[in-house]
Amino acid sequence: MADTIRFGIVGFGNIGSGVVDVFTRNRAVINARVPRPLELVRLADKDLTTPRPVEVPPGVEFTDDADRVLRGDDIDIVIELVGGLSPARQFVETALRAGKHVVTANKALLADCGAELFTLAAKSDVSLLFEAAVGGGIPIIRTLQQGLTANSLTSVRGILNGTCNYILSRMAAEGSKFKDVLQDAQRLGYAEPDPTFDVEGYDTAHKIAILASLAFGQDIRFSDVFVEGITRVRADDLALAAEQGCAVKLLAIARRDAPDAPVEVRVHPVLLPRMSPLGGVDGVLNAVEVVGDAVGPIVLIGAGAGLAPTASAVLSDVMNLAQQMVDGGAPLDRRLKIPVGKRSVQPMRKIALRHCLSLSLLDRPDAQSRVRSALEAESVTVDREVIRGHREGEYLNLALFTDAAPEANVQAAINAISELDVNAEPPSVLRREEM
Ligand code: HSE
Repeated sequence: MADTIRFGIVGFGNIGSGVVDVFTRNRAVINARVPRPLELVRLADKDLTTPRPVEVPPGVEFTDDADRVLRGDDIDIVIELVGGLSPARQFVETALRAGKHVVTANKALLADCGAELFTLAAKSDVSLLFEAAVGGGIPIIRTLQQGLTANSLTSVRGILNGTCNYILSRMAAEGSKFKDVLQDAQRLGYAEPDPTFDVEGYDTAHKIAILASLAFGQDIRFSDVFVEGITRVRADDLALAAEQGCAVKLLAIARRDAPDAPVEVRVHPVLLPRMSPLGGVDGVLNAVEVVGDAVGPIVLIGAGAGLAPTASAVLSDVMNLAQQMVDGGAPLDRRLKIPVGKRSVQPMRKIALRHCLSLSLLDRPDAQSRVRSALEAESVTVDREVIRGHREGEYLNLALFTDAAPEANVQAAINAISELDVNAEPPSVLRREEM
């Protein structure tokens, strides 16, 4: 048996550089907390020439042959930081089949075929850990795998994308439009040059698929998640939210009412109270709330992205594996079973939600009654109405807060209202979420 536990990294980009940097800086602290010292043996990347934010440490091999990490006789743990589905899936499978423990930050991969990969890991008698895949430095995976395992969970809700939270926070603070804040965020380097993945909600959907799978023991995938991003959120939606003591957040929600009930898994902008645990989380921060039957609600808040926070999560997985290799004990990734193909997901159209309709109507005698008729036709009832602005003979701006109604009915009512010739502006709608 070697004196050290040896690990290698495939994918030496930004996150890989973060892992090398934090491991190098904190080596003494890390190695004081594991039963045998950890040793970084090898880095692999197809690009050997582009300068990295950190140097390759002395004594560490840098190769363009991924197999030297994935199957290396001198490697115990493989860290996969390539990202995406291919060749990342082949890399992870190769390493697991070669009997290596694997640590990954790859949310897209886990939301696509995580259940198959966990099955393969168990068959190969190794572990696949992924703390960095959701919430960056926030230890939400470990919280589900360890801290809350005595609970039956009822919901997991989170702000899981820093880019969207930053954009919505600035829109709220400045009264700015989505497009203007996005452009500024790209200039400042907060948003990617191609922001689609973040602003359309896909990144958040990958993350909630993983959390829902763990929370409810089901094989829930990206394709099971209802997704609506933030591109249609208007400056006026944020103004309305502020008037009501609320915030607009891109929320990921996984919930079920009873252990045998279908799971709701959805990502969309919501109106939620500003003075609630998630409603007050601004800027690039992420936050996750988990509700368990025994513990009640708990909330974790922190950096959801960035090199050092992500490296913190990756290295905590490596340290857990080091402990597991030496001491034995139940592997973390086998505590919460995710059977391949087992899923029961509630279609979005059947989920009953409360909404806020923001209407700018022509100030005509029939305008409100025609809106009411469109709502009544779909059995959508109004709990509260707020007049936001009125100029006689010109316009009447209203916010209608509906009672809970199935999404299919609400969308049909909104479509019907949009068709009416009494709109001064197209209607806007936000789903409401209580905390
Ligand atoms: N692009 C993501 C975010 C981080 O903005 O939060 C990686 O998941």
